[in-house]
Amino acid sequence: MADLASLDISFTLNGAPQTRSVAPFALLIDFLRDDLALKGTKRSCDVQVCGACTVLVDGLPVSSCTSLAADIDGRSVVTIEGLAQRGELSPVQQAFVDHAAMQCGFCTPGMVLATTALLESHPHPTEQEIRHYLRGNICRCTGYIKILEAVKSLV
Ligand code: FES
Ligand code: FES
Repeated sequence: MADLASLDISFTLNGAPQTRSVAPFALLIDFLRDDLALKGTKRSCDVQVCGACTVLVDGLPVSSCTSLAADIDGRSVVTIEGLAQRGELSPVQQAFVDHAAMQCGFCTPGMVLATTALLESHPHPTEQEIRHYLRGNICRCTGYIKILEAVKSLV
């Protein structure tokens, strides 16, 4: 039962139905990391610039650092923890491993989720389209070449 300081929300998280109470002002990133212990969603810039906090909401990439948890009511959320199935990496995750498309890995959950959304909506993007789609995901380590190679291997 929600009180005035919280809202009841129902949503799907990584394929499983959930009902929770959240503060009206709670950020989605805090809800995922602190309340649900899903630490794969990373926090860096906190101002919707870097893409480290990207999750998918109804299949689209969203910056969880600038989204309210209450806004996922009735929606489907996928975090990096939801991609592997029965112990097998998703094709995008496997491609990042195969192409060594990570160093520190801090940007990787966001990169992988954004790539997943891209390929689900647009399975055969050009290199220019890949670069454009991933422009909101910043990597400080790799120089992007390996990431680009990983994504292109899936097209
Ligand atoms: S932490 Fe959300 S975009 Fe950088
Ligand atoms: S691998 Fe370190 S920020 Fe991308």
